[in-house]
Amino acid sequence: MEFWGERPFLIKVTKMQFDETPIGAYKYELDTPILLIDLDLMESNIAKMADFFRSVNANLRPHTKTHKTPIIAHKQIDASAIGVTCAKLGEAEVMVNSGIKQVLIANEIITPLKIEKLTSLARHADLIVAVDDEDNVEHLSKSAFNKGVNLKVLVEVDIGMKRCGVEPGEPALKLAHKIEKSKNLTFAGLMGYEGHTVTIPDFDKRKYETEKSMALLVETKDLIERSGLRVEIMSGGGTGTYNITGKIPEMTEIQAGSYVVMDAYYKNVVNEFDCALTILSTVISRPNKTTAIIDAGIKTMTKEFGLPLVKGIEGVKLTRLSEEHGNLDVSKSEIDLKRGDKIELIPTHCCTTINLHDKFYGIRNDRLETIWDIEGRGKVR
Ligand SMILES: Cc1ncc(COP(=O)(O)O)c(C=O)c1O
Repeated sequence: MEFWGERPFLIKVTKMQFDETPIGAYKYELDTPILLIDLDLMESNIAKMADFFRSVNANLRPHTKTHKTPIIAHKQIDASAIGVTCAKLGEAEVMVNSGIKQVLIANEIITPLKIEKLTSLARHADLIVAVDDEDNVEHLSKSAFNKGVNLKVLVEVDIGMKRCGVEPGEPALKLAHKIEKSKNLTFAGLMGYEGHTVTIPDFDKRKYETEKSMALLVETKDLIERSGLRVEIMSGGGTGTYNITGKIPEMTEIQAGSYVVMDAYYKNVVNEFDCALTILSTVISRPNKTTAIIDAGIKTMTKEFGLPLVKGIEGVKLTRLSEEHGNLDVSKSEIDLKRGDKIELIPTHCCTTINLHDKFYGIRNDRLETIWDIEGRGKVR
C-alpha cells in the first residue's frame, strides 16, 4: 500500500486483495461499493441505549427492521433487550431461526399463507402479533387452534400516525374482548406507534406531541382494565422518542431500531447516538475540474430523506445519485480527488439503505474485523 501524502482516506492500493474475506485488511483496500459498519460506534450505541433502560420501568425490544441481522439482535439482547420487534413475518423467521425466542411482529398478518407460517413459527418461539380487525382475530385463532399453539396478540391503536390500528377507546376495547374470547389467543396488551412524532426536530415539541399521542394509548389501557382485562404489554416508541415514551410509567416496551447504527437524518433529531454506517465507494471518473463520479448510486444507498453526506472531506458534496453513479461537487475541495480514491458516505436513511445490501463489513480501528450476512434483507413478506 502507498499513502498519498497526508490523506490516509485516499489510499492507493498497489496490491489488490481479491480474497473473499480479507479480514484484517485496511478498509480502503476493500472493493466497492460496500456497506461498512463501525463496530465501536455500534457497540457504544447499544450500550448507551441499554443504560437508559436501566433507569426506567419500560424495557427495550429493539426493532430489527433497521439491521435485519441476527448477530446484532443478539448483541442487543445480551445488553438486556427483552427480545426483538420485527416488521415482517420473514424478518421474524430469520430472528427465530437464529435462536431468538421473544419476538413481536409489530404489524398485521392477514393472508392465509402468512397466518399458516405464523402459527407454525409459534411452535419455535414466543410470538406476539398485532391486530386491528375482528376477522383477522378469527383467522389467527382458527389456525392457532388447528396447530395447537398459542399466540399472544396486541391490539394496535392508531394514536395519530394514520397507518394501521383501531381508534383509541371503545373500538380497541371491543377488539380486546374479542381476542380474549378466542381460542388459542391471549390478549396481551396494546401497541401504539407514534411514527408521526419521532422525527420532530425540536425536543420540546416532540415531547409535547408524543405525550399527547401516548395519552390516548394509556386512556385505552385504563378503559380495558376497568372492563376486567389485564393489559400486560404497552408497546410503542422509536429512536426519536425512546426517552419520552420510555419514561411514561404505563409503557412496558419500546421498539426503537435506528439508534443502533443511526443515519445523517436521524442524527439531526437525536444527537446522543453515533452514525456507525458508511458506504465506501470509489471515484471512477473525473469528467471535469468540479465533478468527481463515484461508483455508488441509488442501488447502493437510498435518498428519500435527502442525499447522503460525504464523510471527512471538507468541501466535497454529493449532488446527484443515479442508479449506479453518484456525482460529487468538488469545486470547493482543496483535495484534488483522483480516479481510484475512496470516499465514505453517511446514509440518510439507515433502514432502507441496509436493505439494499447482502453484507455488513465490520470495521474496527479502520481494519476489517468481520463480515455479517444481512439475513433479513429483502424479507418484505
Ligand atoms: C412499528 C414501528 N415501531 C418502531 C419504529 C421505530 O423505529 P426508529 O427507531 O427507526 O424510530 C418503527 C419505524 O419505522 C415502526 O414502524
